[in-house]
Amino acid sequence: MAALTKVAIIGASGFLGTKLIKKLDYRLDSASSYEVIGTYYNNPKEGMLDLDIQNERAVTNFMKEYNPEVVVISATIQGAKCEEDPDLAERVIINGAKNFVRACSSSGSKLIFTSTDYIWPGKESLEESPYTEDSPPNPINVYGYCKTLAEEEVLKLGSNSLVVRLSSMYGWNGNKERNSFLGFLKSLKGEIKMGTYQRKHEVWVDDVSLAIIGLLTANASGVYNIAGPEMLSKYDLTQRLLKLCPNITRVIPDSNIRGSFNIPKNLPMSTAKIESLGITFSSVEEAVEHILRQTFR
Ligand SMILES: NC(=O)c1ccc[n+]([C@@H]2O[C@H](COP(=O)([O-])OP(=O)(O)OC[C@H]3O[C@@H](n4cnc5c(N)ncnc54)[C@H](OP(=O)(O)O)[C@@H]3O)[C@@H](O)[C@H]2O)c1
Repeated sequence: MAALTKVAIIGASGFLGTKLIKKLDYRLDSASSYEVIGTYYNNPKEGMLDLDIQNERAVTNFMKEYNPEVVVISATIQGAKCEEDPDLAERVIINGAKNFVRACSSSGSKLIFTSTDYIWPGKESLEESPYTEDSPPNPINVYGYCKTLAEEEVLKLGSNSLVVRLSSMYGWNGNKERNSFLGFLKSLKGEIKMGTYQRKHEVWVDDVSLAIIGLLTANASGVYNIAGPEMLSKYDLTQRLLKLCPNITRVIPDSNIRGSFNIPKNLPMSTAKIESLGITFSSVEEAVEHILRQTFR
């Protein structure tokens, strides 16, 4: 049997990490197989290891002990929290990335960093051209700023680095797991208001996981955008997810909902580069049908 590629998912207890680790495990009997290790920080999960990426020595020891060929940083501080506590954001997002850059540089491991469309300032009009991988970052909030600097650090590893810039993700990991926006929607009842100010290429977390695995299999390096095919506000997305949320009776559009910090307006993203590798993305309608059939419990 061919040797397995050892992949470490850092932040495997999070929304994306939970899905990514499952998708990698499903492939264990396929031709391109992976041995997967996952880490958590505050939320212990069975079979996972405890790691704080702010701690340089802990990262070095982790890399020496487990020696993964590939590391995926899915650990983050979320946007609102970055604004509240910029020092923590810097320590986790920027210093955390630096710690892995150092360790991967010594071990020769590949480093995959999950970034965001918040590295861009957003576009006023929906008619403007989409952001490509070459569009220069110009963040307007702490989260975007930290991710921009972390990207720069990671890309110093050259062909051993990959930055994936993700649009907002939705999807389902199962009851009692982290489900992000859909988990929040499931907790709501009756009439609800949802924002129309910001539009993004909302993307299904299953597709994001498969895209990362596809890039890994293709040994891609550099920067790739990962985004869904439709430009949607949270109001539009909620309307499309209603089949999964029977307790919501009506969704009212509200242009005044803007979140607790400065967010970009429209974030159109080009996915031509990743699609040229044969990696494609589902519409929300397709994703909902899949979630209803296979994973929604
Ligand atoms: N969610 C989105 O819509 C979205 C959009 C664009 C980009 N992204 C990016 O995609 C990646 C995954 O996002 P997500 O939604 O899955 O995030 P998430 O659910 O908030 O998960 C964050 C993960 O980071 C871990 N973590 C936090 N502090 C840590 C530390 N000091 N050391 C080690 N691990 C730490 C958490 O561990 P514990 O929970 O165990 O504490 C958790 O596993 C992130 O890089 C994020 O910036 C997400």
